[in-house]
Amino acid sequence: MDKLLVYGQQKLMGKIPISGAKNAALPLFAASLLTSEVLTLHNVPPLSDIATMAELLTCLGTHYKSDNLSRDEMTVHLQADHVENLVAKYELVKKMRASILVLGPLLARYGHCRVSAPGGCAIGVRPIDLHLKGLEAMGAVFELQDGYIDAKAPHGLNGAVFEFPIVTVTGTENLLMAATLANGTTTLINAAQEPEIVDLAECLISMGAEISGHGTSTITIKGCGELHGATHKIISDRIEAGTYALAAGISGGDVELVGENLSSLLPTFLETISRIGLDVTPTEAGLRVRSTGSLQPIDITTAAFPGFPTDLQAQTMAILCLANGVSNIWENIWENRFIHVAELHRMGANITVSGAHAQIKGVQQLTGAQVMATDLRASFSLVLAALSAKGETLIDRIYHLDRGYCNVTEKLADCGVCVQRVRG
Ligand code: EPZ
Repeated sequence: MDKLLVYGQQKLMGKIPISGAKNAALPLFAASLLTSEVLTLHNVPPLSDIATMAELLTCLGTHYKSDNLSRDEMTVHLQADHVENLVAKYELVKKMRASILVLGPLLARYGHCRVSAPGGCAIGVRPIDLHLKGLEAMGAVFELQDGYIDAKAPHGLNGAVFEFPIVTVTGTENLLMAATLANGTTTLINAAQEPEIVDLAECLISMGAEISGHGTSTITIKGCGELHGATHKIISDRIEAGTYALAAGISGGDVELVGENLSSLLPTFLETISRIGLDVTPTEAGLRVRSTGSLQPIDITTAAFPGFPTDLQAQTMAILCLANGVSNIWENIWENRFIHVAELHRMGANITVSGAHAQIKGVQQLTGAQVMATDLRASFSLVLAALSAKGETLIDRIYHLDRGYCNVTEKLADCGVCVQRVRG
């Protein structure tokens, strides 16, 4: 397993190109199953999760072609004109839970499919009951057999009014995609409002779907008989942008994040890091984020968009380890998303966890150590801590990092920071 060697006390200075959003790309790949024509996606990030989704779609029978436009960007062409195998295998679903996103499109287009039930993962139990309840409201029937969800829509899917009892991102995406091919109108109440949902809806509209209200908590979808091919550019990855903003802050650096609409993608986060003491200024190409020297403690509660994103919680905790006082974080989305704390302790952090609450007492200095990445975002929190630490840090299990951050060593090197991938 590869490791990452990070030399401490290095400042990020320069420009970071922000890649396309992984969590927008994954549902967009699944949306290609809704038509027999070609869906072309620009600004696709070269990540291992994207490769897993491409493998899943290929196994189903989709034609997949990718062009590498640059180090950080691909264009892909997906054509689901010969889907013969309607089974999403356990081997792929267990690798990446977002594989569940093929359920809605396959059911809507073919009336049946078999998708491995995703298990839990490090950050929580991660049920999919609301995906299933919503599709049931549209006429689907599910049976669990041998760890697989056998899905059928014997009379096709019909438009319905469905209210999510809690906000779910991929749940909203699955229903949104399914509803585009259903008979009649579907209304999704208490829908997720994340920018990735808006991006998916915009792409579906360019494929011929009739959708309104995306970006608000009520989305209305008028089902139509079929969708056609389209070309779509994926939005910038707000979580990658936020992560590198924190890298500038924790290292005492100054970076320009180059990407589109970054301010509107990260409203609460940017306001929060300004309160921590980072200087954030919009530029023509994106955002400039600069350390001002001191870090202030702060209280954070994670929430669905437009609230503070859970996917930036671990990285923000790393910077708060060095703040001048006591900070508090309440993690409201995932029940087990403080696993990075034990690793930060090994680097000298002073954090106490009680249930969904973490109290972080700022320390003067972190120190390098051997640590282990436990999930995708947690792994970058260790990179951030390591950048500020005294000495070297060796981070094990960085395959987690590769799932959601592309070309980390190269992007950091562009900003004068040396980290080394140690092959193993
Ligand atoms: C998406 O996961 C993201 N993944 C996650 O990003 C992100 O952390 C999460 O949304 C929250 O923002 C993708 O977009 C591929 P949810 P998702 O359904 O859709 C509960 C990353 O690091 N729930 O919005 O799986 C659930 O347990 C990843 O890139 C149910 O109870 O999350 C959680 O408490 C990690 N029943 C809450 O809802 C359901 O049927 C929100 O989960 C579905 C969800």
